[in-house]
Amino acid sequence: MRNLNKSIVVAALGLATAWAAQAADLKIGLVLPMTGPFAAYGKQIQNGIKLYLAQNGDTIAGRKVQIILKDDAPGTAGDVSKRLAQELVIQDNVDILAGFGLTPSAFAVAPIANEAKKPMVVMNAATSAVTTKSNYIVRTSMTLPQITAPVATWAAKNKIKKVFTVVADYGPGHDAEGQFKKTFSAAGGEIVGEVRVPVKNPDFAPYLQKVKDTKPDAVFLFVPAGEMGIAFMKGFQERGLAQAGIKLIATGDLTDEDVIDSIGEPAIGVINSFHYAQAHKSAENQAFTAAYIKAYPNDRPNFMAVGGYDGMRLIAETLKKTGGNADAEKFVEAAKGLKWMSPRGPVSIDPVTRDIIQNVYIRRVEKVGNQLQNVEFDQVNDVRDPGKP
Ligand code: PHB
Repeated sequence: MRNLNKSIVVAALGLATAWAAQAADLKIGLVLPMTGPFAAYGKQIQNGIKLYLAQNGDTIAGRKVQIILKDDAPGTAGDVSKRLAQELVIQDNVDILAGFGLTPSAFAVAPIANEAKKPMVVMNAATSAVTTKSNYIVRTSMTLPQITAPVATWAAKNKIKKVFTVVADYGPGHDAEGQFKKTFSAAGGEIVGEVRVPVKNPDFAPYLQKVKDTKPDAVFLFVPAGEMGIAFMKGFQERGLAQAGIKLIATGDLTDEDVIDSIGEPAIGVINSFHYAQAHKSAENQAFTAAYIKAYPNDRPNFMAVGGYDGMRLIAETLKKTGGNADAEKFVEAAKGLKWMSPRGPVSIDPVTRDIIQNVYIRRVEKVGNQLQNVEFDQVNDVRDPGKP
């Protein structure tokens, strides 16, 4: 009897160990625009995540990854993103919230991450203040002040004295405008005009006429990647601003590889600053772009694809450190200071802001072979977000 009891206990213990070893799936709730005007954001970010998992396996620290995707189209309506994040937390019981194509979506979901105590990995939304809205946010994309300051410095050093700024009228546009003015003025440049353009269906014609009449040396532009940039470039062409001797400088959102072919030849010569280019020369990027094009032959890898790829990498590396524990406090502590070699160059997570520290490159659009590319010709290393107090 004694022996029988003992063997039952041993068997039960064995069962318990086997049970524990079979850890629960790791559920990642992805909030991304998959349809509507910003559908390309969702597609590129999802492509990046899928590629990382295909290359590295979909089990992290013993937990099988399960992605639950919610389409928050149009991506600019905070209430939609918020409702979907609530569903992910309450109904799907996700461990981590991730994605976020646009700033309004990230702003709206930050309080959910706070209340539910879930790590929130931002893979694109780039207004500086996003990471201040919850201590559980870590970001793998960029901030607008971070990528704007270098092109403002470049302009001041390259005989551009008077600039007219044109930005989309919401968070990232306000950030870009503010940082451009600050850096460019401090370097001796003059802002001769500024306009903020609505994100929905903008008609650039009246703004461009005003720019032309003001005769600046250059226009500085930030618009979210996609249709707005295409519309701006069309107007810039039609109104003959280049012929009037007005240069165009921008953040790399304008000439992102996903839209540059739609802009076409008018993009050639545009100077812009950014953290990622398909044409970035490194062994890591060569491997990344080759694998990406093989997996998604109809897409060109862009900064959002890298934001998703690195975001998934951050989740994997962080969970390896915590032994698979996705508790928000533990996750964020483990993510702080993480360093890796991204397709964009060396990156790390700033332990103070939870934003990404990275090189920012100055590029010129050129035709390389038969493709338009952002060709890097200068860089500023290890740039932190200058937008934080
Ligand atoms: C944003 O909404 O934060 C955003 C969207 C697209 C960009 C950059 C920033 O290209």
